[in-house]
Amino acid sequence: MTADPASPKSSRCVDEILAAASEESRAALKVLGELVGNEPASVATPAQFATRHLGIDPLSLASTRFTGPSTSLAILGNMLRLEIAKHGDAVLIGSPGDGLPPTWSQLDLGLDEHGVNTQVTVPGRLVAFFPAGTLTAKGLCVLVDDRHWSREFAILSANADKGVAEGLLASFRERLKSSDNPLRGRVLQASVNDGCIRVGVSPAIDSRREGLILPDDLWREIDVFLAAATTRRELLRSLGLGTSRGLLIAGPPGVGKTHLVRVIAASLVGQYTTILADATSMRHALADLYAESDTFGPTLIVLDDIDLVLGHRDSGGDNTALADFLATLDGVRQRDDVLTIATTNDPKSLDPAAQRSSRFDMIVTLPMPDAPSRARILGRHLEPLGLSIDLHAMAEHLEGATGADVREVVRRAILEHGSSFTQSQLTDIALSGRWRATVNRRKYL
Ligand SMILES: Nc1ncnc2c1ncn2[C@@H]1O[C@H](COP(=O)(O)OP(=O)(O)O)[C@@H](O)[C@H]1O
Ligand SMILES: [Mg+2]
Repeated sequence: MTADPASPKSSRCVDEILAAASEESRAALKVLGELVGNEPASVATPAQFATRHLGIDPLSLASTRFTGPSTSLAILGNMLRLEIAKHGDAVLIGSPGDGLPPTWSQLDLGLDEHGVNTQVTVPGRLVAFFPAGTLTAKGLCVLVDDRHWSREFAILSANADKGVAEGLLASFRERLKSSDNPLRGRVLQASVNDGCIRVGVSPAIDSRREGLILPDDLWREIDVFLAAATTRRELLRSLGLGTSRGLLIAGPPGVGKTHLVRVIAASLVGQYTTILADATSMRHALADLYAESDTFGPTLIVLDDIDLVLGHRDSGGDNTALADFLATLDGVRQRDDVLTIATTNDPKSLDPAAQRSSRFDMIVTLPMPDAPSRARILGRHLEPLGLSIDLHAMAEHLEGATGADVREVVRRAILEHGSSFTQSQLTDIALSGRWRATVNRRKYL
């Protein structure tokens, strides 16, 4: 039997196909339509596309531009995607110029509440025409270009409608600081790629306050810092007393500085967007990193182990990084919605200028744990195993050990004995020092 040429399948009209197509396929089909139509749009520049659809002459075309950090462009692109979807067929998509088709790129949103990794496709390079009565009362075009040398988000309008375009751009930028920005209030990780800062969603933080054993007065200091950043912030501001700017956490390696920063970041989720800076972004792109904070409303910037990057003026270290750091922090002082938390292993190795109280309002030093604290840290790690071990006796064997060392001793015991070991086996490991990471030279000679 031959197929009936009049079957519903083969006679699907263009409208039906378009209705079933994805947002991106529809955009691509529209461009294709224009290409094969009598007026090929893709050879037109965005300005020609705009003048044609706005029905104005090139001399009365105005461009209202925003050039921002790359993450803000991706997020503005995401809002544009939502507007294109909302106004559906009324919107026309055009080429970004040079005869090229529109491009779309991926914005990674990390894990959603069901633990599923989500990505959305956002406009990369394109121009979109919104007729009067859609985005605003006036007809306008929105241009996005995410190439790093020409990064912009612009509203193209008639000169006469420049005020409307400015209002629209301002409202898009305002939305960056609202829940329309899917990265806002989350913990992000910054790194440098192609000379540009890239910000992505960090894997979930599971560092908990209960897991960190610190002296009570130290926790009180941390709580004062958190109150200054949250509940007491408005009061401080309204009294003209200034809001909090930063916290410097000092202490030898392994006493829990990184863990503490993560506990603080986790407790500010939703209220602050946290950006964890990696070493390259601290060294080469600190000012850009702080510029990214414009994208997220209240922002906490975490600079872990800054001493490794900044050093001391006299030590012949990397002074450009230090100078950048000082200048950047001084610039940030004017803004009351950016907090900095930095950690350093050795406060003496950090230039005194970097420590001045005008740059950090609080400096706390994490001490080496005393014997009772070592016993509690050991208890935390051994708890799930349910063994009968005299924690206080063990803590005495671990004189001079940090929290990280205590953790290593337990790890080593588990590696050697599995989930069940005795007091004397654990003592043997603690005293032998074989839990320390050492290079076994003989093996490689
Ligand atoms: N005071 C502490 N209480 C409990 N655990 C600790 C403590 N200090 C360190 N640890 C353990 O050691 C690990 C490494 O510590 P970390 O925060 O990286 O130290 P630092 O950043 O100061 O070098 C932590 O994840 C934690 O498991
Ligand atoms: Mg650390």
